[in-house]
Amino acid sequence: MTNTVEMRGITKRFPGVLANDRVDLTVRAGQVHALLGENGAGKSTLMSVLTGLYRPDEGEISVDGRRAVLRSPGDAIALGIGMVHQHFRLVRPFTVAENVVLGDRSLGFVYRRREIQRKIEELSSRYGLRVDPGAKVWQLSVGEQQRVEILKALYRGARILILDEPTAVLTPQEARELYRTLRRMADQGQAVVFITHKLEEVMDAADVITVLRDGRNVATVPKDETNPRELARLMVGRELSPEKPKEAVECGGTVLDLRGVHVQNDKGLPALRDVSLTVRAGEIVGVAGVAGNGQRELAEAVTGLRRVEKGKVLIAGADLTNRSPREIIDAGVSHIPEDRLGMGLVPGLGVHDNVILKDYRLPAICSGPLLKPRAIHARATELVERFDVKVAGLDSPVRLLSGGNLQKLLLAREISARPKLIVAMLPTRGLDVGATAAIHQMLLAQRASGAAILFASEDLDEILRLSDRVAVICDGRIMGEMPAEGADVEEIGLLMAGARGGRA
Ligand SMILES: Nc1ncnc2c1ncn2[C@@H]1O[C@H](COP(=O)(O)OP(=O)(O)OP(=O)(O)O)[C@@H](O)[C@H]1O
Ligand SMILES: [Mg+2]
Repeated sequence: MTNTVEMRGITKRFPGVLANDRVDLTVRAGQVHALLGENGAGKSTLMSVLTGLYRPDEGEISVDGRRAVLRSPGDAIALGIGMVHQHFRLVRPFTVAENVVLGDRSLGFVYRRREIQRKIEELSSRYGLRVDPGAKVWQLSVGEQQRVEILKALYRGARILILDEPTAVLTPQEARELYRTLRRMADQGQAVVFITHKLEEVMDAADVITVLRDGRNVATVPKDETNPRELARLMVGRELSPEKPKEAVECGGTVLDLRGVHVQNDKGLPALRDVSLTVRAGEIVGVAGVAGNGQRELAEAVTGLRRVEKGKVLIAGADLTNRSPREIIDAGVSHIPEDRLGMGLVPGLGVHDNVILKDYRLPAICSGPLLKPRAIHARATELVERFDVKVAGLDSPVRLLSGGNLQKLLLAREISARPKLIVAMLPTRGLDVGATAAIHQMLLAQRASGAAILFASEDLDEILRLSDRVAVICDGRIMGEMPAEGADVEEIGLLMAGARGGRA
């Protein structure tokens, strides 16, 4: 049989961590195979072994029945194994077409522009991957960037495609579209593996499911013979207790006050149109909306990262419109950005350095020009313990952390600054059930101690669980606001889709 991969007894160790423990996995042509597991279970590591990024300490891989030794991603590509990573690896100033052919050494790009364009268009339509080959990558939404990554793998001849948490960054509609693409690939005889945390989606999109826990394969089951509840139990190794409901908190004065704010996006188009919104102390306002409708720009306008063209941003009564991010941090604002590794944390630095990234001027951390290593170490240790961040060492680069642990570290740092206002964009995106519950508890604890919280999510259950008030955003406009209690999910859905004035 072709397009089949067998992994046998794969073990991969990192200093202090057994990331994969004698894992067997068979991926077959014509199947969509889901890989499930909690944050840090070893999913990305296993797939990195399969794509030649990591050499396993033990175990064998065979492709189409033949033993394969993968010394580099190039070896994997030559065998038709392609991967779309959790954190994209595109060159932002380049066009889509340039990114797709990057690393393809045959002939010069300029001479073959037409031909390349044709091939990209052919792949796009064959698999339903809409994207403009001439657009620059920095102008694309996250969903579009992902399509470029997939096209890049297909262009290089991938017949076994691996996607690491592809839906974590997508809107529900985009996710459905992606699943249709994956299904088409399987129907055309390719093999697909995708990693995810969303159990419902697994049930919709996968044929076979493998669950990893603590680096081991605990089960491989056909979709038809399992259910979300069983999968959750396999993932965490016990029955899950439901999350605690939020307690009533007395709201204080207005902390964030946005008045008629207009901003532009990176393409110079209107991204926020006349947005007025308030958040009080001890209150959580959830911005519901499909990602890419102005949520990121909203966070950036509040935190001084994006120019406000018109309107005002008041924080605790002070007009901070278009002030520097530094001044806004000093005013007590914490920011959990959508793009954790690009903006929130410095991938190449260790936990120590990332923890003090914003505090390096505080007397507790430095005296004069000198940093206090002991104080920094104590701070880092405390945060890692208090927020249960799993790290191999405080000096190893944070890019080595699993997605969930990265997010916890970022939240730990931002929350420990005792902010007046927390701006959190998609704070649980890509997190497993346990880590999601932990982040929810962290945010609710901040609310209880009087912080004002503005957060955005695409997950309506999450919005309704955490928020006191819901604001629905679509195309840069606030379409409506309502108390979370007793809110009508249907109505919110309609507003998210742009229906004015609620019920259409
Ligand atoms: N290059 C590395 N060096 C050291 N430790 C690593 C490295 N890569 C991963 N780890 C560790 O190995 C374990 C498995 O990580 P991995 O990234 O495979 O998890 P994951 O299942 O993909 O998690 P997530 O759902 O959060 O992405 C984790 O404890 C992680 O910190
Ligand atoms: Mg991962």
